[in-house]
Amino acid sequence: MGKNTKVIAFANNKGGSGKTTSCANIGYSLSVLGKKVLLIDGDMQLNLSLSFFNEEEVLEFASGEKNLYYGIKKQEDLTNYIVSTVYENLDLIPSSTLMSGMEYELFTKWQRELILKQGLKNIKASGEYDYILIDAPPTLGGWVMNILCASDYVIMPVEASPWGLFGVANMFEFLQDVSRMNEDLKLLGIAVTKVDGRKNYYKQTIEVLKQTDDVHVFDQLIGIDSEVEWAQDNSKPIHVHKKSARSAKEYMELAKEIDRDAGRNR
Ligand SMILES: Nc1ncnc2c1ncn2[C@@H]1O[C@H](COP(=O)(O)OP(=O)(O)OP(=O)(O)O)[C@@H](O)[C@H]1O
Ligand SMILES: [Mg+2]
Repeated sequence: MGKNTKVIAFANNKGGSGKTTSCANIGYSLSVLGKKVLLIDGDMQLNLSLSFFNEEEVLEFASGEKNLYYGIKKQEDLTNYIVSTVYENLDLIPSSTLMSGMEYELFTKWQRELILKQGLKNIKASGEYDYILIDAPPTLGGWVMNILCASDYVIMPVEASPWGLFGVANMFEFLQDVSRMNEDLKLLGIAVTKVDGRKNYYKQTIEVLKQTDDVHVFDQLIGIDSEVEWAQDNSKPIHVHKKSARSAKEYMELAKEIDRDAGRNR
């Protein structure tokens, strides 16, 4: 029987909040838990693609036509744009630097907020995947609107730092706008990232977030871990780079929590 595919966007207009790192490592963790996962790189920075493929491979996707930009530009079924990673149960639709022109591309199209949703329709209907995880860029425009209109859930990674909270209010306002287009979109939760356990500051971040109405903060926090950067440098999930890394365990636990919550909300 086909799977009931859940689409989850990782979004926050604050740059460097851990969207891509979380999307990649939660995606990998879910695949290890036996879920079939499709990752979508929605950012011109190509960071999600680089998390699984080396620079040469990513530039080949980006400069050819096997990337999300062309799929959206041509308004095609995105099934044709899926590439397999070396990991079982884990596929990817790569990005392109041309995504920088996406807002312009969308502007001339009819029902422009729904183009990604339309492109994913057959993939969802096929029941092939348990999860589709989309990595959003740090912007709030028509393209991120597309990502959120194509999603069932949004996860907002927030960095545990004084400025980490800065963009959250803008993001909530944007989600209000999105809810007019996609009334079923649900904020699954906030993932607190880059926690420095030696300092007390992160407790304040969590405190403030928990006081916000209708906001769930995931129990599992993600600590600062220098291995994350080495893993990214090697285009590998943290678990493959160093199985014993603290962040590998944290991302695995967070993935279990997300899987439980997404299942409960259906
Ligand atoms: N737990 C962590 N420990 C240490 N470094 C981290 C951790 N998580 C992320 N980083 C680093 O922080 C930086 C930003 O992370 P990431 O790229 O995931 O954020 P982002 O929200 O996707 O950024 P952007 O808004 O640019 O897309 C990266 O250099 C990454 O290596
Ligand atoms: Mg990113």
